[in-house]
Amino acid sequence: MPDSYALKRYDSATLPVGFSTPPSDGFNCCFKAEMRYRVIHPDPAPASDSEPMLEVIGVGHRYGAVEVLRDISFAIRPGEKVVLLGCNGSGKSTLLKILNGLIAPGSGQFRYQTEEITPTRLKSPDLHRRFRGEVALLFQNPDAMLFNPSVFDEIAFGPRQMGLDDVAQRVRHWADQVGVGAHLQRPPFTLSGGEKQKVCLAALLALEPKVLLLDEPTAALDPRSTGWLVDFLGGLNITTVTTTHNLSLAPELGKRGLVLGEDHSLIHDGPIQALLADMEKLAAANLVHTHRHRHGNLEHRHTHVHDWQ
Ligand SMILES: Nc1ncnc2c1ncn2[C@@H]1O[C@H](COP(=O)(O)OP(=O)(O)O)[C@@H](O)[C@H]1O
Ligand SMILES: [Mg+2]
Repeated sequence: MPDSYALKRYDSATLPVGFSTPPSDGFNCCFKAEMRYRVIHPDPAPASDSEPMLEVIGVGHRYGAVEVLRDISFAIRPGEKVVLLGCNGSGKSTLLKILNGLIAPGSGQFRYQTEEITPTRLKSPDLHRRFRGEVALLFQNPDAMLFNPSVFDEIAFGPRQMGLDDVAQRVRHWADQVGVGAHLQRPPFTLSGGEKQKVCLAALLALEPKVLLLDEPTAALDPRSTGWLVDFLGGLNITTVTTTHNLSLAPELGKRGLVLGEDHSLIHDGPIQALLADMEKLAAANLVHTHRHRHGNLEHRHTHVHDWQ
């Protein structure tokens, strides 16, 4: 187990969020890896009087007859780090694709810095250039993003598309920042899953975007890489929206939580800590579950956080 992890036994005095009362007879069933992350920078407080960076106004979406987003509204100000939580199928990835202008909402509007964004509107060269240079989406599966012959070309792709004149410097800088500077000549498909994720991140950051949208960025990472990523993201002074269904990780990724319920509506918009204390809401969002534990011939039932990926 890496140094940054510790196994901790929880009793009633140190009950973690998401656990109901521990077994009164002190069975050792409630062990849990507790992640300890080093906080590099606290969230910069967003200016409350600043214009929203991202604005979602009554957005709904369906795939065919199936509703996946219902009347979602929120605004995100510059510098905010927001965590988008919801169980599988609640609509998180669809919402991120709308925020990245890849799909148009079925109803309602998405605005970036007051400008309505849809794939059709992004056909305007000026808006396309500005939006694609300023808002970046990290897909959950890095293989969906990697297509260049070398890591260098992969990271250089965006800056070249934008016609920037300091491509090589940007590639080296961001490759070093994410720790893939030694792999610049390798074909991306030869990298490990964690390394691929880092290359994708460097490729996005090479454009120095104002907004980073991250779709379950830790889903394929081992604990050490997860810790690295959380540290790294914490050190970036960029507006971020990160999806996850991992409740232990959520407070490390941002202070504000948005939660999509099973009915695909927004059931929480506020501090993550308040959300984590609200078992009813977490259960309604299918982010916790209850199941039986057996200890010899004794049995008890209590609530668990979905922490596994
Ligand atoms: N392109 C698509 N066509 C049809 N159904 C889709 C498509 N993309 C996602 N879905 C469905 O929409 C629902 C929401 O998906 P998604 O936004 O990926 O949710 P999440 O990211 O929260 O798991 C799921 O039931 C999924 O199967
Ligand atoms: Mg998803």
